[in-house]
This record gives sequence, C-alpha cells and structure tokens, in this order.
Amino acid sequence: MSQTVVKNISLLVTNNPSLGKTELGLIENAALLIEDGKISWVGAGESAPTAEKTVDAQGKAVIPGFVDSHNHLIFAKDRAGEFSARMKGQAYSAGGIATTVAATRSASDDDLHLNATHLVHEGLHSGTTTVEIKSGYGLTTKDELRSLKIAKQLTDETTFLGAHVVPSEYKGKADEYVELICEQMIAQVKPYAKWIDVFCDKGAFTTEQARKILLAGKAAGLRPRLHANQLEKVDGIALGVEVGAASVDHISHFNNGDIELLKKSKTVATFLPAAEFSTRSKYPDARKMIEAGVTVALASDCNPGSSFTTNMPFVIALAVRDMFFTPEQAIWSATKGGALALQRDDVGHLSVGSRADFVILKESSYIHLAYRPGVNLIGQVWQHGKRI
Ligand code: NIG
Ligand code: FE
Repeated sequence: MSQTVVKNISLLVTNNPSLGKTELGLIENAALLIEDGKISWVGAGESAPTAEKTVDAQGKAVIPGFVDSHNHLIFAKDRAGEFSARMKGQAYSAGGIATTVAATRSASDDDLHLNATHLVHEGLHSGTTTVEIKSGYGLTTKDELRSLKIAKQLTDETTFLGAHVVPSEYKGKADEYVELICEQMIAQVKPYAKWIDVFCDKGAFTTEQARKILLAGKAAGLRPRLHANQLEKVDGIALGVEVGAASVDHISHFNNGDIELLKKSKTVATFLPAAEFSTRSKYPDARKMIEAGVTVALASDCNPGSSFTTNMPFVIALAVRDMFFTPEQAIWSATKGGALALQRDDVGHLSVGSRADFVILKESSYIHLAYRPGVNLIGQVWQHGKRI
C-alpha cells in the first residue's frame, strides 16, 4: 500500500469546516497523506506522518480539484464566426445550436471522441478533476445514444440533454419531439446517463414540456437537473425545485420568489459566468442568492456556442469581478458547490476518505486565482492520488 505525504503547504483549503477555519476549512502550514488514491490524513505540517514518498508543495496553496458540473463536450466543429459576429453586435440565440447539431450528426464517433477527450484534458490541466458531460447536439435517438456512449467513456457524470432544442425536422411539431424523447430516447440512453436535463427557455422548451420530460426521465431512474432562465425569466427555477432537480443552471434571470423557493429546497443554483462573458449578456447578481443562504455552484458550461472555455480559474475570476462572489465563495462554489450540484460527497473537499483530487497552486493563496486573472497558476494537478 503506497503512501505519499504532501508537505510544506502554506494554506490548505479542505472545504471541511471541522478541519480548519471558516467554511473553507483552512489550515495554515498544512500537510496531507494520500493512500490508495484517497486522502488518509490531513493536518498541521509539524504532525505530518512519514511516508515512502514526499512531495514538497514549496510553500504554495493547495485546493481541492475543481468540480465542473456543467459542460457540453460532445460536438463537432466550432462556431468562431458566430462569436465574432456577436462581438460586432449580433445577439446570442438558442438558434445557433442547430449549426452544431448538423456538424455533430455528420461527424464520426472517432472525431467526437477525440474532440471531447481533448477538452477533458484541457480542463484537467487547468485543475478540473471531476467533469460533467451532456449530450444534446445529436437530437435523434441514434445520435444522442452515441453521444452518451462517448461521454460515458470519459466520466460517470453523464447527462441526457435530448431536449436541448427542437430539431429542424420537428419544426412546428415540438410536442411530437417531446413524445419521442419520453417514449423512445430515454429508454435507449438510460444505461449511459446518470442525469436528465432540459433547456427550459425562450426558443427552447416550455415549462410544461420540460416538466413532462424531467418526470419521464425520473420515472426511468435518471436524476433531474435543468437549464433555466438563461435568456429570459421563465418558471424554470420553480420547475427545478418542484421536480427535485439537483441543480438549476444559468439562472441569469431570477426574482425574490425564486430565491425563496431555492432557499427552502436542496436544489443548487449553478452560475455560469463564462456564458454571460461570451454572449455579452448582463451578469446576474449572485450575491443576492448567496446572502439568502442558497447553495451556489460555479461551472464553465464549455460548449462551442455560448461559452467555449474549460478554464475554471477564468470562471472564478469572472464570478468575483462581475457576479460579486468573494474569492472564498468562488473557490467553494467551484469545488464543493459543484460536488453538491452533482450529488457527490467524495469530491470537492479534502477530508479523510475523500478522493485525492487536488491542485498545488503556483501562489501561496487561493485569492490569486481571481487577483491574477489570465495567468496560469496551476502548479500540479493530482487526480485519484496520482500526479497528472
Ligand atoms: O448552456 N443554453 C443552452 N445550451 C448551451 C449553449 C449551446 C450552444 O449555443 O451551442 C448553454 O449555454
Ligand atoms: Fe449549458
């Protein structure tokens, strides 16, 4: 049984308040012990046990690996032209999804797998050790199925998003497409999906259609989560709470009633600031949710349309600067918050028994992730107790 001790950590973020100070469970001059891919001891450096292998963190900060709970990685081709047009004034709309659907349908499995693998590795090298991946650019039973088979090779956190938009061949027949999802697709894809998601918004699915799909998914054993209120204030948050969604995501538009509903529920509010950045939209004031006591997560929403980044430090910097998170709230939301949004208790924190997924930063504090935006501060990434 091989043991590795990581020593000389200036500041350790455990996200376990019983281990250290504040919600972040901060320990100064810390050490941790890894055994069989898991954390087996955490504490003050001077009491660190000896082990066969020692890693010197050289007085830098250590944080849990990022848990990026919202991504669309199974697609072909990018939409750089669309982004460029947007920067010249064109508005973002759900309509762009059709471009990627066409490219994805005509791509080979190998190409889709290669592209998604590349993006997962890109995220891993910027500190993301747990990643969620959605389908949603296939929109036929065959293409959704192959998308999820590919996603399942890369993560256990796979999400069926057959209800991304109504595909062109069902134009004017949205309810028939909803029927296809409920009667056919769910049964076929369910061995490869943990979650079911719906884009409930302007230009996508109505609250009634979304409810039908989420309940059909739930009846088949999939767990609900939801794209809600990205483009306008619909009843997506209320629907998410009603069906017991693990998370409602985007939520760029919300009111006090939505905050009250979330407060009383177990549903996590997931903010995706890189989508506001890339669609040049108004950032929601997440501080209102946080101050009300709602559990909040941050994710990248990596996709070729509204947010083509896998970089969680960038997301943290945006959340702090433009959504009024404190650096502490942003770090917590990108790690423990993401884990709660995926209903996982083995990741997002560094406690005895948790997965040994962590990042040694190049600076002595996590604050630098927001304070030095655009600079690569990821020193070492460890996943399952191994340095990648
Ligand atoms: O989460 N909002 C819906 N889906 C994606 C965007 C997809 C696209 O534009 O290709 C999102 O932002
Ligand atoms: Fe999304």
